[in-house]
Amino acid sequence: MQGNILTIFGGSGFIASEIVYKLSKSFKEIRLLTRNTQACNHLKVIKNIQIHLYEPSNVSSYSMHVNESDIVINTVGILNESRKQSFHDIHFDFVRKIINKSKESSVKKFIQLSALNADESGLSKYLQSKGKADKYISSMSSTSFKTIIFRPSIVFGEKDSFFNRFKSLLKLLPVFPLACPNSMFSPIYVKDLTEFIKEASLTDKYDNTIQNITGPKDYKFIELINFILSTMKIKRLIIPLNYSLSKLQAFAFTYLPGNIFTLDNFKSLQVDNISTGGLKGTSSIEEFVPPYLNNKETKLDTYRKDSGR
Ligand SMILES: NC(=O)c1ccc[n+]([C@@H]2O[C@H](COP(=O)([O-])OP(=O)(O)OC[C@H]3O[C@@H](n4cnc5c(N)ncnc54)[C@H](OP(=O)(O)O)[C@@H]3O)[C@@H](O)[C@H]2O)c1
Repeated sequence: MQGNILTIFGGSGFIASEIVYKLSKSFKEIRLLTRNTQACNHLKVIKNIQIHLYEPSNVSSYSMHVNESDIVINTVGILNESRKQSFHDIHFDFVRKIINKSKESSVKKFIQLSALNADESGLSKYLQSKGKADKYISSMSSTSFKTIIFRPSIVFGEKDSFFNRFKSLLKLLPVFPLACPNSMFSPIYVKDLTEFIKEASLTDKYDNTIQNITGPKDYKFIELINFILSTMKIKRLIIPLNYSLSKLQAFAFTYLPGNIFTLDNFKSLQVDNISTGGLKGTSSIEEFVPPYLNNKETKLDTYRKDSGR
């Protein structure tokens, strides 16, 4: 299926940008919906993109775009709640509204970025809200309105939050107490993920399914931290914390600014972020992470920063 109009919610995000790069040639028009158009300036070089400001709580700010779309992809998500935004509001209520709108319009396919271990009765509010949305989305599937839910493990790539965040923290801290050091992850390269999203958009291969997506290899959290250190060629004292100390750290950090690590994050980490079945990317962290973790700022980055991009 060669598409006409693709609409993406959460336009300024890491995965949304990569979806645009991967799918721009497959659609006549891509409509990127964002709360912050400036944060999407880097995508303006793409000819068939339209960047639109919208207000998530106001259906009329996006209904026209959904009405005219063939496919809608939702990448909106948060890792931490705040006074202004709850997991339930962002991961469930908002999704319910946009999928209802999509189904009553002429949208043929709705693709959702969920998360591995999403489960209505999961341990954390993050996983519960994602699971509740997935259940609602699946209940909307039909032969004329296809839904596909992707549940990735952590996603890596040049602008990822995982490796870049720990790089910054490790640079700063000579001693690093690490919560949940044995939690498992199966990092998936963002370009592998978007290849599956492309296939899901253009074929019927994954219609009305839920797909776990992981990478070629599973790692303990502490192995990933050691990999970052060896990539950066720096030494730090890593102190692996046991269950009780990990929980204590999460409890203390929950009340500190910056959302470094919360009790809800701690609860999510009690279930390994790996999958034996499902879709597997082939790109390894060993091949793709070092070039961007070690990258000195390029001239282009400097220009972008100077121009507020
Ligand atoms: N990255 C990963 O490792 C990973 C792993 C598993 C699952 N996922 C899921 O994949 C999706 C995309 O992840 P990502 O890494 O691209 O995340 P991201 O870079 O943080 O992008 C998420 C986007 O959500 C939108 N958003 C944030 N708060 C919002 C709010 N209160 N109301 C409305 N929109 C809001 C923002 O878009 P605008 O500001 O442009 O509106 C933001 O750019 C998320 O649902 C995430 O849970 C990601």
